[in-house]
Amino acid sequence: MHNPILSTVSRAERPKPLIIEESETNMTEIKAVGVVGSGQMGSGIAQLAAVHGLDVWLLDTDPAALSRATKSITSNIHRLISKGQLSQAAGNDALCHLRCSSNLEELRMADIVIEAIVESEDAKKTLFLELDMIAKDSAILASNTSSISITRLASATRRPRQVIGMHFMNPPPVMKVVEIIRGADTSDNTFYATKALAERFGKTVICSQDFPGFVVNRILMPMINEAFYALYTGVATREDIDTGMKLGMNHPMGPLQLADFIGLDVCLSIMKVLQTGLGDNKHAPCPLLVQYVDAGRLGRKRGIGVYDYRATEQVKRSARL
Ligand SMILES: NC(=O)c1ccc[n+]([C@@H]2O[C@H](COP(=O)([O-])OP(=O)(O)OC[C@H]3O[C@@H](n4cnc5c(N)ncnc54)[C@H](O)[C@@H]3O)[C@@H](O)[C@H]2O)c1
Repeated sequence: MHNPILSTVSRAERPKPLIIEESETNMTEIKAVGVVGSGQMGSGIAQLAAVHGLDVWLLDTDPAALSRATKSITSNIHRLISKGQLSQAAGNDALCHLRCSSNLEELRMADIVIEAIVESEDAKKTLFLELDMIAKDSAILASNTSSISITRLASATRRPRQVIGMHFMNPPPVMKVVEIIRGADTSDNTFYATKALAERFGKTVICSQDFPGFVVNRILMPMINEAFYALYTGVATREDIDTGMKLGMNHPMGPLQLADFIGLDVCLSIMKVLQTGLGDNKHAPCPLLVQYVDAGRLGRKRGIGVYDYRATEQVKRSARL
């Protein structure tokens, strides 16, 4: 029978031929969101959810990360108010909706938990196992992973039908796309509820299959890695590599600048997932990328990566005082 809803969606997002259980015909209503990991991605996702009127719990094991996140969300919301992009009342409301904690038990009431911790399969599986014990039975467990198999993360839980990839781009409040990845057992209910949430945040949804790096990083990371090889082998300076791609290819940032923005540790983890998962040595991480990460040069978040931001950060801090 012709289904007008299915005819408007792309092939990748069409439901798999599963027998839909009766309970799945009612889409999960999302009112409360848990976000685990309050780094650059988690804090941005929490801000988005709070600004869109949801109750938000933001969790991190590192109290310093939580305090940085609170400061950055508060100042971002004040900036939106001062630019007239958010009313004072909505801004105040968003800040009231946001709670920070380091106690995972607080996520008991969340309708969806979005994980944004380090890009490590072991760390994420351990977290999913814990979340599965704590979250209510109907809750969706979503991962913001850039590359790791959703099917394998789901296998750490007793609810693989309710596990999904919800890959925001950096910074989440600004970037317009969310990549959604279904694991082998992700249900239609989970998919449509997650898609509806991304759309509530004003995002365009793209769907990809559960393959290493999905689609965005399958294409982006080899380019960034190649830029490191160009620098490593002396083909050009970092400035010329970035300027070439910015002005020559119309990219808003050069690949090395972008790598610093993403975090070199995140880039390295993704390259390792691509190399292992796709079994092709063309994905071997560039030794220079490995060396920078070994040296703690993780990019903007550490003040130094390919470029050194410490002096400019200091100037910005002094200007704020
Ligand atoms: N950086 C990007 O541009 C980008 C873009 C899309 C997706 N991602 C993905 O988002 C995730 C987070 O990336 P990020 O750049 O925000 O990293 P980040 O290093 O800025 O933040 C990670 C945070 O997770 C916390 N954390 C680590 N283990 C934890 C645990 N077990 N429980 C609670 N908190 C824990 C850390 O204290 C840290 O604050 C990764 O999976 C990454 O691949 C990153």
